[in-house]
Amino acid sequence: MKICVIGTGYVGLVSGACFADLGNTVLCVDKNVDKIEMLNNNQIPIYEPGLEELVKKNYLSGRLKFTSNLNLSVKNSDIIFICVGTPTHKKSNSADLKYVFKAASEISASINKFKIIITKSTVPVSTGDKIEKIILKKKRKRLFEVVSNPEFLREGEAIRDFRFPDRIIVGSNNKKVVKKIKSLYEPLIKKGANFFYTNRRSAELIKYASNAFLATKISFINEIANICEALGADIKEVAVGMGSDPRIGEAFLDAGIGYGGSCFPKDVKALAHMASEKGRHPQLLHSVMDINADARLKVVHMLKENLGQSLNDKTIGLLGLAFKPNTDDMREAPSIEIALRLIECGANVRAYDPVAIPSARRIMPDIFYAENPYELATNCDALVVVTEWNEFKQLDLEQILTSMRGNVIIDGRNIYSPEELYERGFVHRGIGRSYDTSTKS
Ligand SMILES: NC(=O)c1ccc[n+]([C@@H]2O[C@H](COP(=O)([O-])OP(=O)(O)OC[C@H]3O[C@@H](n4cnc5c(N)ncnc54)[C@H](O)[C@@H]3O)[C@@H](O)[C@H]2O)c1
Repeated sequence: MKICVIGTGYVGLVSGACFADLGNTVLCVDKNVDKIEMLNNNQIPIYEPGLEELVKKNYLSGRLKFTSNLNLSVKNSDIIFICVGTPTHKKSNSADLKYVFKAASEISASINKFKIIITKSTVPVSTGDKIEKIILKKKRKRLFEVVSNPEFLREGEAIRDFRFPDRIIVGSNNKKVVKKIKSLYEPLIKKGANFFYTNRRSAELIKYASNAFLATKISFINEIANICEALGADIKEVAVGMGSDPRIGEAFLDAGIGYGGSCFPKDVKALAHMASEKGRHPQLLHSVMDINADARLKVVHMLKENLGQSLNDKTIGLLGLAFKPNTDDMREAPSIEIALRLIECGANVRAYDPVAIPSARRIMPDIFYAENPYELATNCDALVVVTEWNEFKQLDLEQILTSMRGNVIIDGRNIYSPEELYERGFVHRGIGRSYDTSTKS
């Protein structure tokens, strides 16, 4: 099939490359000409494992092309995926749809024959109706169909998630169009993906409800971690015991410094906003956000408890910057808020991340970035585990301790064994851990 993907970010680039790999002809469009130039020079603007090879292979085969010319790309395609960003609006908690509506208006000017226009971006319920209205200003209804097909891939696992999705949701009441989209996804359905079609508004809401549920699980386990600390239970043991019940499930029961990234924070906010706009009071969603805000700053309180209330002139090393491992995405990363709060307290902040330093430097140009964890540890009073990269789990802890001035590790992702760290001479604080080495002597 001939596909046009608008927006070559984390979703658009991965989807474009994967659709091309399934044998389709894909034109990837971005208004950011620097990105397009990079892609045409075999450079990948984002870090996503396996993406470089996949893009290269399909680019060389001629099935995957990159351009800034939306008009020609739409004209030459049957299916158009809108994959542009939907960040939080500057003036409210709603999703800002300016990129989506701009793309819709540009598409409308280029429709020359029947097109299926699909929102893969996460968009508030009824956005499909609004896109339809925009296009109707220029084109007749028989020339297009607007469909919702939310994307569930996770950064860091994006290619695998695209190839082996749990489910493919298509929101449309047009059976012919649903059939065509189903045939596009047929190779994935054959490998076991569930295919559901729903009405368009339900499909739009499924995405928000899914992300809000996962965020709720994270805030729930963080609430339980707080209770564990007060009652002397261990959150790791509690989570295993809870998660082995299939009605609960073990995923997303890792206590820590909370969720971040380009999706959960903005999507929970936008869902709460959608509900409030219609006169509903989404109490649970507000609690999820409050708990998450507290979880981020918990490590700062722990540092104060262990280094003294004044962090002035203390040197703190952040192990990890990206909002999660295997990505360089710094959007809403907890590391930003933690670093800024520490700087406000007068601390010297150092940081290391295997891939996110270039993105982090754009946001926080003034902190010191180390080349490796051992350089990071040099003269630090404390280290804080912010991102659970695998390489942090395998550190030579003896070398780390020798490099440090102090011996405190605040394990914001519970990657270390408190007992082991205690035996090696560290003061270890985890989230919801019963073996709190700060109280051992
Ligand atoms: N990142 C994820 O893990 C993820 C997962 C599922 C769904 N989503 C959703 O997918 C959407 C895209 O997310 P992302 O992380 O890929 O965003 P992104 O910011 O990485 O990429 C968006 C791209 O769209 C381009 N763009 C904007 N307007 C354009 C226009 N009119 N014409 C051409 N290009 C245009 C931008 O230049 C940018 O390159 C969002 O709605 C997001 O919520 C993201």
